[in-house]
Amino acid sequence: MAEKRITYFKEIIDRLEKEKNLSDDEFKALLETEDEEVLEYLYAAARRVREGIYGKDVYLRGLIEFTNFCKNNCKYCGIRNGNKNCERYRLTFEQIIDCCNIGYELGFRTFVLQGGEDMYYTDEKMEMIIREIKRLHPDCAITLSIGEKERESFRRFFEAGADRYLLRHETADKAHYEMLHPSDMSFEHRMQSLKDLKEIGYQVGCGMMVGSPYQTIDHMVKDLRFLQDFRPQMVGMGPFIPHHDTEFKDEKAGTVLMTLKLLAIVRLLLPDVLLPATTALGTLDPKGREKGILAGANVVMPNLSPTDVRGKYLLYDNKICTGDEAAECIRCMTGRVETTGYKVVSSRGDHVNFV
Ligand code: 5AD
Ligand code: FES
Repeated sequence: MAEKRITYFKEIIDRLEKEKNLSDDEFKALLETEDEEVLEYLYAAARRVREGIYGKDVYLRGLIEFTNFCKNNCKYCGIRNGNKNCERYRLTFEQIIDCCNIGYELGFRTFVLQGGEDMYYTDEKMEMIIREIKRLHPDCAITLSIGEKERESFRRFFEAGADRYLLRHETADKAHYEMLHPSDMSFEHRMQSLKDLKEIGYQVGCGMMVGSPYQTIDHMVKDLRFLQDFRPQMVGMGPFIPHHDTEFKDEKAGTVLMTLKLLAIVRLLLPDVLLPATTALGTLDPKGREKGILAGANVVMPNLSPTDVRGKYLLYDNKICTGDEAAECIRCMTGRVETTGYKVVSSRGDHVNFV
């Protein structure tokens, strides 16, 4: 690339770091460039900002995929209700508690309870699970990732002791949202849920799939504007990967490169945000999560689900970490993080500006 172009990009990256903002056209230019010198400059800025706030620490969250039943039919998702080839499972109350106990012994202080929108787990059942985990491990944070609910349910879970909630917005563009979801799901309800969660007092994570079908650069700019406005404590972003039993089976996957650019840009936009290097990123590239950390990510989520159900929580094809025991998964993750020069820490790793 011509020297002049590189100077232009370095100037906008510096300005993004300083002012945490750019024009739409500048965001687009950054999202479109594939120049290696520019990208290295962008990632270095993201690392500098992240180290200024979090040092070299990478936070661990223990992921418990406790049910793959789901009432929804998101067009991209392997565990959508309409997929008759998906072998369904639910963990019992005791199994969920066991996962947390094993995780606690391994050093985890945050548990992420993730599942499809499974009506079997009524508000009462969820409250019982949350209260029991908090009774056994009062020093731990509980994160829920169980989809859209009504405000009253969110409030009850919060009262019971849940601290955080992950609900990706998937895309900030209503028309695009409607291309990814069937007509019985609503963009407005998804956005309302996120607002409710924030108002109730949760640390909230939203996020989008990178390279989902029909996604354009303009959609991504809209996502960035949404993040600036909503100011989540966490942003979960991973590449879209097709699942063979969905109508998007022949669509192209998102790219590692675009995911890394977005991680770095989001780090510069929201300096203290918690940013996971996702399993989907590790699925597309064996070094994907390490690259994510080097582009500004500071969270990893090893899987604590029992091994006999691991291979059934398949949102997309070729998912990694489906065979390892919890202890093995954390050992592998710790080693990977260390190759980047960062280090895994066991603390709750609360969002720095929270509480
Ligand atoms: N590829 C990548 N990510 C996916 N998710 C669901 N299906 C896929 C897929 N095929 C993501 C969604 C959801 C999160 C739990 O997993 O963003 O919010
Ligand atoms: Fe379960 Fe989308 S298929 S929430």
